[in-house]
Amino acid sequence: MVEPLRLALVGCGRIAQVAHLPALEKAAGVELVAVVDPSQEVARAVARRYGVPAAYTAQEQVLADPAVEAVLVAAPDRFHYPIAAEALTAGKHVLVEKPLAATSAEAEALVELVDRTGLVLQVGAMKRHDQGLQYARGFVAERLGEVRSFNAWYRIGDLRPGIEATLFPYVYADQAARESETAFKADRQRYLLATHGAHIFDTVRFLLGDVGSVIARHRQHGRDQVWQVLLTMASGAIGTVSITVDVPGVPSEGIEVFGASGSIRVDTPFPFYRQASSVRAYADGETVMPELTDGDAYERQAEAFARAVREGSRPVPDVRDGLHAIRLIEATAAADGEEITL
Ligand SMILES: NC(=O)c1ccc[n+]([C@@H]2O[C@H](COP(=O)([O-])OP(=O)(O)OC[C@H]3O[C@@H](n4cnc5c(N)ncnc54)[C@H](O)[C@@H]3O)[C@@H](O)[C@H]2O)c1
Repeated sequence: MVEPLRLALVGCGRIAQVAHLPALEKAAGVELVAVVDPSQEVARAVARRYGVPAAYTAQEQVLADPAVEAVLVAAPDRFHYPIAAEALTAGKHVLVEKPLAATSAEAEALVELVDRTGLVLQVGAMKRHDQGLQYARGFVAERLGEVRSFNAWYRIGDLRPGIEATLFPYVYADQAARESETAFKADRQRYLLATHGAHIFDTVRFLLGDVGSVIARHRQHGRDQVWQVLLTMASGAIGTVSITVDVPGVPSEGIEVFGASGSIRVDTPFPFYRQASSVRAYADGETVMPELTDGDAYERQAEAFARAVREGSRPVPDVRDGLHAIRLIEATAAADGEEITL
């Protein structure tokens, strides 16, 4: 019997409550032993809801707790680097929400720290644990032949708040913390590109490998933002990534890939539906549409993290994948029609 990984959750806000805590309760090989949030009220409320034995208000308390082997960092982006760096330095493994850090310089420092400590750091780009995207990765590698082109999209629809209100449990929050957070999210252009780009750029790299160069254009219409990005892959394939926030209607995310001998389309549902991506794959005169039912990517990522720690295997996505996603975000933010080589 493999001992469950004793994990502490650092940051008990929205994503922790709507995705990680329910996933950790079910995940095989993981035992949640502590939660941390600067708001004592929030930390205690989630600990009570999930029967977690320790509720702390400072990360140092968790790092000094010998019962804790690893942390899941679900604090806002700007805290990812200091929290992950302190945890690694204290000898704890780290699963950190996407984006890995706020800047590529911070992400590079984490690459060094992971190399130096030999500890596991996995980035919470949980779509890599989506069954449909995993199926697609295999199909692209084995059946598509030379990949020539692709189109990926990540659209936040203006119907999202109503969908979330239906799917989410009641979320405990500290009003003062929420208001101070709103001030940081006020730079919407920067925040939205980082928060959504971290997912879709990682998906493109997961299926198609490294990116060679980026040409991007951004437009803003009131609160709405759009980035249209042309990527040239290291393989020579060319494709587009479109990030739009908001569009009228429902959220929509997916990718189509065209190779020399096949093609594939993957539609990834809004993650809180807990459904695997649907896949329609075509090669050699045959269309395949697999039925995939293990749809909680947050639970699957936690289980994969525990396995990586116990087996000493490479986590997916790892710290270098996290760094590459940030480089793509930064290149997209910097580009204004000209080509940026990575
Ligand atoms: N993977 C996904 O699908 C997904 C979805 C949403 C958000 N996220 C990521 O999760 C992170 C959190 O987002 P959120 O929407 O839950 O934010 P949030 O503001 O709702 O929650 C953040 C929580 O962290 C706490 N916090 C602040 N500073 C802290 C510190 N130093 N140590 C510990 N806790 C601290 C806050 O009190 C708050 O409770 C962000 O990095 C975001 O990009 C990922």
